[in-house]
Amino acid sequence: MTDRELINAAREASQKAYAPYSRFAVGAALECADGTVITGCNVENAALGGCICAERTAAVKAISEGKQKFRRIAVYAGGQDYCTPCGTCRQFLSEFSPNMDVLCVRGDGRYVSYHLSELLPHSFGGEMLI
Ligand code: THU
Repeated sequence: MTDRELINAAREASQKAYAPYSRFAVGAALECADGTVITGCNVENAALGGCICAERTAAVKAISEGKQKFRRIAVYAGGQDYCTPCGTCRQFLSEFSPNMDVLCVRGDGRYVSYHLSELLPHSFGGEMLI
């Protein structure tokens, strides 16, 4: 799958966002190690602490289908800025695939690509737990 195809899947997923409070629709497309692509959108809640980001929606869908290793994720939001994952999503993805790439996409389709370790340097991992 090309970057552009993954980005298109993320943009399409953003149309399913449930974001009545922020009105900020986000879509994610997660490419798993076996090549399958699993999408997600943000899902908000009136109890704002219950909101879940598009990236974690996609990751939880993938993990619950038995896919725990990821190659890339594209994250799309329709604004002027590249949509970078929040800190919680960086940590969440790092648990499973610290070596994945993250494509951060803005409304006009332009994107910047990062290695997850650039977005989450000196990360905390399970190996540090005694
Ligand atoms: N959001 C995401 O889904 N992913 C991001 O990378 C940034 C933020 C969502 C969470 C919330 O529903 C809305 O965008 C505003 O923060």
